Amino acid sequence: MQIRIVGVVGCGLMGSGIAQVCAESGFDVIVREMSEELLKKGLGRIDSFLAKSVEKGKISAERKAEVMSRISGTTSLEALAPSHIVIEAATENLEAKREIYKALDAACPQGTLFASNTSSLSITELAAVTRRGARFVGLHFFNPVPLMKLVEVVRSPLTSAEAFEEAFAFAKALGKTPIRANDKTGFVVNRLLVPYLLDAVRALEEGVGSVVDIDEGMRLGCGHPMGPLTLLDFVGLDTTFYIANIMFDEFREKRFAPPPLLKRMVQAGMFGRKSGMGFYDYSADAPKPSQGLV
Ligand SMILES: NC(=O)c1ccc[n+]([C@@H]2O[C@H](COP(=O)([O-])OP(=O)(O)OC[C@H]3O[C@@H](n4cnc5c(N)ncnc54)[C@H](O)[C@@H]3O)[C@@H](O)[C@H]2O)c1
Repeated sequence: MQIRIVGVVGCGLMGSGIAQVCAESGFDVIVREMSEELLKKGLGRIDSFLAKSVEKGKISAERKAEVMSRISGTTSLEALAPSHIVIEAATENLEAKREIYKALDAACPQGTLFASNTSSLSITELAAVTRRGARFVGLHFFNPVPLMKLVEVVRSPLTSAEAFEEAFAFAKALGKTPIRANDKTGFVVNRLLVPYLLDAVRALEEGVGSVVDIDEGMRLGCGHPMGPLTLLDFVGLDTTFYIANIMFDEFREKRFAPPPLLKRMVQAGMFGRKSGMGFYDYSADAPKPSQGLV
C-alpha cells in the first residue's frame, strides 16, 4: 500500500515530533489527542519548534506554513480511519494502549498498518488485541524526534515480512535511519540505556556525587553529549519509571528496577523538562540542580 496519510495517536512529547517529521516529509497527518486543550498544547509544540527554525533561518516562514497545513487535529479515534498507517504514541500504559488498539482496529480498514512507538511494552501483546497481527509493527522513534536519526523497526512473531518492509521503507521516507529489532522488551537501545540511567539515579542516591558531578563526569569523561540526569529530564521521569517497571517485570533483574528516588520524584510530579522540574529546576532561564533530592 502506498502511504500518503499518517494517523498519530497522542500529541505529547513524541507524538508531536512524529506528526511534525511526517508532515515535513510530505505526508498528510491526522493527530488525535484526549481533549481540545491537549491537542492545542501538542500542536502548539510543533508550531513553536518550527517558529524557532524560522528564527534561526533554517526554514522559511512559507515552509513552516506548508508543514503546519498538512497537520490536522482531532479528539476522535474514528477520524483516523482514512490513514494508511497509524502510529500510536500515547502514554506508556499497557491497558490504555490495548483500549486504543481495540478501538482503532474497529475503526480502520483491514489494510491499515498499525505501529506503536512504545519503548518497552510488547508489540506482540499489543498486536494480539487486534485482528491484524500481520500488519502490526513497532516504530520506535527517539526524542527529540525532528533531530534524532534513529528509528527501531520492530517485528513480532505475527508481523508479515511485507508489512515489516513497508514500515522500514516508511522510516527511510521520513529521512530516518532504521534498524531492525525483534520484539524483546527495550529492543536494542533501551536494553542498554535504561540500566545506565537508573544507575545514575542510584549513584546520586548513594551520594557518589552531586547532580552536576554525575552529569559532568559522563559528559567530559566519556564524551557523551549530555549527562544521564539531564537526559532523564529530557526523556521524562514518569516515562522512564514506566519503562523500568515494565523491563523489571519482564527480566526480573535488579539493574532494571526503578530506584526509590525516581519513584518519589514521579510521585511528586517532578517529570523533568515537561513539568518544569526534575533533576534540574527549569523555572529560571538557566536550569539549576533541584533542591532537596537526596
Ligand atoms: N519520551 C521519550 O523519550 C520516548 C522515546 C521513545 C518512545 N517513547 C514512547 O512514546 C510514547 C509516548 O511518550 P511521550 O514521552 O510522548 O509521553 P507524553 O506523556 O509526553 O505524551 C503522551 C500523550 O498521549 C496522550 N494520550 C493518552 N491516551 C491517549 C489516547 N487514548 N488517545 C490519544 N492520546 C492519548 C496524552 O494525553 C499525552 O499527551 C510512550 O509509549 C513512550 O514509551 C517515549
